[in-house]
Amino acid sequence: MQRKILVTSALPYANGSIHLGHLVEYIQTDVWVRFQKMRGHECHYVCADDAHGTPIMLHAQKLDITPEQLIANIQQEHQADFADFAVNFDNFHSTHSPENKALASQVYLANRDAGHIATRTISQAYDPEKEMFLPDRFIKGECPKCGVADQYGDNCEACGATYDATELKNPVSAVSGATPITKDSEHYFFKLGNFEEDLKAWTRGGHLQDEVSHKLNEWFESGLKDWDISRDAPYFGFEIPDAPNKFFYVWLDAPIGYLASFKNYCDRTGIDFDEYLKPDSTTEMIHFIGKDIINFHALFWPAMLQGAGFRRPNAIYAHGFLTVDGKKMSKSRGTFIKARTYLDHLNPEYLRYYFAAKLGSGIDDIDLNLEDFQSRINSDLVGKVVNIASRCAGFISKRFDGKLASTLSERALFDDFTNQADSIADKMEKREFGHAMRDIMALADKANQYIDDKKPWALAKEEGKDQQVHDICTMGINLFRVLIAYLKPVLPRTAEQAEAFLNIEPILWSDIASPLLNHSIDKFKPLMTRIETDKIVAIQQASKETMAAEPTAQKLETNSNIDPIADEISFDDFAKIDLRIAKIVNAEHVEDAKKLLKLTLDIGLGEKQVFAGIKSAYAPEDLIGKLTVMVANLAPRKMRFGLSEGMVLAAGPGGKDLFILNPDDGAQAGMRVK
Ligand code: 2FM
Ligand code: ZN
Repeated sequence: MQRKILVTSALPYANGSIHLGHLVEYIQTDVWVRFQKMRGHECHYVCADDAHGTPIMLHAQKLDITPEQLIANIQQEHQADFADFAVNFDNFHSTHSPENKALASQVYLANRDAGHIATRTISQAYDPEKEMFLPDRFIKGECPKCGVADQYGDNCEACGATYDATELKNPVSAVSGATPITKDSEHYFFKLGNFEEDLKAWTRGGHLQDEVSHKLNEWFESGLKDWDISRDAPYFGFEIPDAPNKFFYVWLDAPIGYLASFKNYCDRTGIDFDEYLKPDSTTEMIHFIGKDIINFHALFWPAMLQGAGFRRPNAIYAHGFLTVDGKKMSKSRGTFIKARTYLDHLNPEYLRYYFAAKLGSGIDDIDLNLEDFQSRINSDLVGKVVNIASRCAGFISKRFDGKLASTLSERALFDDFTNQADSIADKMEKREFGHAMRDIMALADKANQYIDDKKPWALAKEEGKDQQVHDICTMGINLFRVLIAYLKPVLPRTAEQAEAFLNIEPILWSDIASPLLNHSIDKFKPLMTRIETDKIVAIQQASKETMAAEPTAQKLETNSNIDPIADEISFDDFAKIDLRIAKIVNAEHVEDAKKLLKLTLDIGLGEKQVFAGIKSAYAPEDLIGKLTVMVANLAPRKMRFGLSEGMVLAAGPGGKDLFILNPDDGAQAGMRVK
């Protein structure tokens, strides 16, 4: 039976770039959706930018543009990144849209009229200079537990303690630096407790992964509390109906943004929106999310939908976080990799395959091990799958005029491949992509083994063995076709190129069992090339550079120039660093480099060349003749533009506010810095 499925991925904040951590989810969802479409189901995949909230408002102020301009710019960037990763949304919208405003009001008013909204006055930190209430993340002070300065209002990065913003010692507003005062204001609350029984039944009713549903028991045990859904002006969001100067908290209208994007799509395409939203709908609604936002999706969201008289989701599929080389993504290690940085160097399908090979249906974190990534792609995709076609295609085109034989010489082997269609489909359906990929690669091994055994290249040299060569290569091409069909949700572009080479219509799952016989194929062009190590190094290097040259989103959000203190090092570590006074004898632009200047530094013992990411703050002519401090014993690094033989020290949040250290008072080139 044909299913009708509405699928979403979590809406990315319109406040920063997409990185590989985000892509785990978009790739997971996209693979699942493409699989459903290949199975012939009606599946709609929608998403949007999550455009509201204080960080976005402040970020726009900092850039001196309107929030509308900021979110439009980011939306463009996000859509380009997704498209280039072949994440194929049927619609990508924004939560700052007329559809979302209308739906948020509708959901709110229905809940209000049904008695699910309460108001009461609460006291909160307020910035008297900026005249705004301060979310916890925008208050900084000394940790109440360990006393370390400059900690955020919700947790301490030094000792890990969590606390209330009011407990911070000597608090300051991270927005203006003023000392916050406490101020009262009326807030609107969603009475989550009204839904307790229904939520208990729903969270235990097979809509969630077991581990998620168990985790939610903790919420029930500690009692469902009212949820604060309003924020006071100034706030970038939607004003609450009948509540002037009160705005919906970003998390109220974010999930409604799923529906708004779908509504926008339905209005353009004629799909019946109401059929998907009515309480007794036979359609499916499925949300893919990260495990950090489970409570919003598995408690508040189904309750809000129910209160509004809409259907609830059929399933929430949560996934774990991404680590790179076993650790949290890190800017200094060059493993905080933006989607665009990856795309500048490597084929997106490699990452799609790698993530698919690592993903299961649970919420465990997945690791991108860069060495393993390289060897997996080279051995699985290039060495196994693509190799099958390249071993057979040449014979077919040169000796048989591009035409496949008219029968399958080894029907049993072919059936062996196609008989797995159901079990692979079952794994794909259950999001056990890793298992499915393993099954597919086992088949690829079998196909290669078959060709190794039959040795068409040897037979081709013998007289009268033409038929055999034709049969073997026809088998090889048919086995390749089955593998490509299985991999198509993961490798859509490679599959498209393979379809062009095979000269066939886009393959559906139901086509898998029909062999290609007596059929002309096109000339084979290599579908993929090996990953060379320099590409991986270049991605890490570029990630370090973009991160060094750009203030982080968080710094922009909080208007704070202070980074947390890095991991402790020993005195011996410190003593290894040879800091020298350097005279900048030359500085010049680097062609094609957005952020770098090429500096020639005299350190008394000869000249060194350094590429420094300071172009946003300095013109070359401002630097020539100045003294600065450099790390003189840093191992030289080969960069795209040439060799960099050290590093100059600079301070500041980035952009124009970046200052090279500029010693004077008798400093001379070559002096050691003590
Ligand atoms: O956590 C986040 O990145 C949110 N922007 C996700 C929102 S998902 C949905 F509810 F809109
Ligand atoms: Zn602390």
